[in-house]
Amino acid sequence: MRVAVFGAGYVGLVTGACFADIGHDVVVRDVVAEKIDALRRGKVPIHEEGLDDLLEHNRERLRFTTDVDESVEGAEVVYVAVGTPPTYSGDADLSAVWTVVDELPRVDRRIVVAMKSTVPVGTGRTIRHRLDERGLENVGYVSNPEFTAEGTAVRDFKHPDRIVIGAFDPADAEVVERVHAGIDAPVIHCDVASAEMIKLAANAFLMTRISFINEIANVCEATGADVVKVAEGVGLDHRLGPHFLRAGIGYGGSCFPKDSLALKQLASNSGYHFQLLAAVIEVNELQKRRVIGKLERRLGSLRGKKVALLGLAFKPGTDDMRESPSLVLAGRLLAEGADVSAWDPVADGRVHLDGVHIADSALDALDGADAAVLVTEWPELGELDWAEAGARMRKRLLVDGRNMLDPSEMRALGFDYEGIGRAVE
Ligand code: UGA
Repeated sequence: MRVAVFGAGYVGLVTGACFADIGHDVVVRDVVAEKIDALRRGKVPIHEEGLDDLLEHNRERLRFTTDVDESVEGAEVVYVAVGTPPTYSGDADLSAVWTVVDELPRVDRRIVVAMKSTVPVGTGRTIRHRLDERGLENVGYVSNPEFTAEGTAVRDFKHPDRIVIGAFDPADAEVVERVHAGIDAPVIHCDVASAEMIKLAANAFLMTRISFINEIANVCEATGADVVKVAEGVGLDHRLGPHFLRAGIGYGGSCFPKDSLALKQLASNSGYHFQLLAAVIEVNELQKRRVIGKLERRLGSLRGKKVALLGLAFKPGTDDMRESPSLVLAGRLLAEGADVSAWDPVADGRVHLDGVHIADSALDALDGADAAVLVTEWPELGELDWAEAGARMRKRLLVDGRNMLDPSEMRALGFDYEGIGRAVE
């Protein structure tokens, strides 16, 4: 099949590459000419495991363009994978989506627009009206949300838990199902609004689990329980399951913070106060800041103290720093007058962190530090020579924001180790 993908970001590139890998002929279109030029030269603008290989391997089935007509020519399905960042009011900014809808050329055959961008419930209906107003009745519309996570996006795309297809017309749903031929997963067929809500509800539920376990962690700290053991014991209940029960310094990324706000505002706009979600968001904000309290309890005032941030990306496996807890931590530490150094194996802190010294290695970041905060659970940090790390530090205070390291091993190495929701010695 011929597939067009609008948007060459994390979602669009993975979608395009995976569809090409299935055997479709794919044209990825983006408005940023430099990005398209780079992709044509074989340069991948993001760090996503397996994506470079997939793009390289499927070169003959993948084209990149800035031209709308070229991308839509001959296509049966036009995927929309453009950004929907939050506006000042917290609602999703759909301007990039509207641009795609308004730019869509008139074609004399049936094509299906499939929405991958995360949009508020009701967007599909409004888009349908707009298409009809433009006289594009031969353009079908389907909501086909993505459930891929950064760092594992290629694997998630190829082996999804489910494929959700919300359509106004069953014939359009059938076209989108055919695009997924060869991907073995249950297919949920539903109306467009329900497909849009499945995406928002799934993310909100995952965030709820994280904030829930983070609150349990905070109570564990106050009562002497160990949240890692608690999560293990809770997660073995088959009704609950073990996933998304890792306590830490809060969730970040391009999806959860924005989607939770968008769903909260969506509810508010329709007159409903989504109390649980509001609490989930607030717990997450506080969780990022609790680290500062942990450091102050050990070091007193942070003015003039050197603190090293280990990891900057919002999770391992990606260079994405959007809404990463590292941004809040760096900002708070600088505001307290601390001297902040940081290291990440792929995320470029220089672009986002003014006033922070970006080191070339974790050990360099730790040189002379009074404290270290493990922000992202990169495997490199699990393998770090922590004895050497301790020797480089001025004081061996380590806050493990992801409960990645073994507390007793770290204490045996002379570290004053504190995790999240674990007993403090
Ligand atoms: C998330 C969802 O997992 C995907 O299903 C969804 O498609 C995607 O958003 C999206 O809407 O596009 P992503 O944000 O890439 O994917 O990454 P996650 O693995 O979900 O992690 C999000 C954040 O939660 C990270 O900061 C991570 O450190 C944190 N997290 C995750 C925890 O703090 N604890 C956990 O147990 C799990």
